[in-house]
Amino acid sequence: KATYIKNYEMITHASGKLMLFAGDQKVEHLNSDFYGEDIHEDDADPEHLFRIASQGKIGVFATQLGLIARYGRDYSDIPYLVKLNSKTNLVKTKQKDPYSPQLYTVGQVAKFREISGLDIAAVGYTIYLGSEYEDKMLAEAANIIFEAHIHGLIVVLWIYPRGKAVADEKDPHLIAGAAGVAATIGADFVKVNAPKKEGFNSAEILKEATVAAGRTKVVCAGGSSTSAEDFLKQLYDQIHTGGASGNATGRNIHQKSLEEAVRMCNAISAITIDNADVEAALKI
Ligand code: FBP
Repeated sequence: KATYIKNYEMITHASGKLMLFAGDQKVEHLNSDFYGEDIHEDDADPEHLFRIASQGKIGVFATQLGLIARYGRDYSDIPYLVKLNSKTNLVKTKQKDPYSPQLYTVGQVAKFREISGLDIAAVGYTIYLGSEYEDKMLAEAANIIFEAHIHGLIVVLWIYPRGKAVADEKDPHLIAGAAGVAATIGADFVKVNAPKKEGFNSAEILKEATVAAGRTKVVCAGGSSTSAEDFLKQLYDQIHTGGASGNATGRNIHQKSLEEAVRMCNAISAITIDNADVEAALKI
């Protein structure tokens, strides 16, 4: 229990709000998020993610265990979330319903924490709700949550409705359903895509999910890179109108130069953790 509380306080800066820096895309999106015309050259090197997480104000850095093992020794100041499952985007949903295999067990993560001495504070797992493999992912997630809590680890579930049975991945009612699933199997945080419905305000329609999640806290995925101002406004509204408890942001941070990425982390943290408004955050 003491480890759980310590980890919760650490990754939320004792605010109950989460600033999750997402760096799991080297598997999820292969090299597409790290190399290209609008992406800063700093991002081509995996160490960029660790430099940002170390120099910027974040709650937790989410990535796969192999990267943490390779770089963690030089970045022992970072609180880590180990993403337990991952898949690439090569096989498209219209070819096959998605399943993201579990790469590590919670026991292995706990063992790694013990021998590395790193601040492994949390684990994460993706469920594709509505996929024909939903049963497998739900069962894996429920077991992970049970085991993780025994080891004092915080659990963030990524839940994306996805597969042939899902007509609209961003339907607000379905996103609220995903949030309810996360609450029911005991996740601490659930990361969803921000809901979208034509003619409706995106932050307003997020409320259904944040209410459905109850004591499980909701954070929204960041999505592809956009202007800092638009991104921070959207985040502010998700928190203040939609009832979100933070953010989970990847590309909008790491596709920038180290200096800009660190500023972006600090601006996001100002809104998420320190209750700043967009104007103040933009000045950081
Ligand atoms: P971004 O902020 O870059 O969108 O990252 C959020 C995230 O959830 C990552 O953690 C994950 O790898 C990716 O998006 C998955 O998104 P999708 O499966 O929709 O491409």
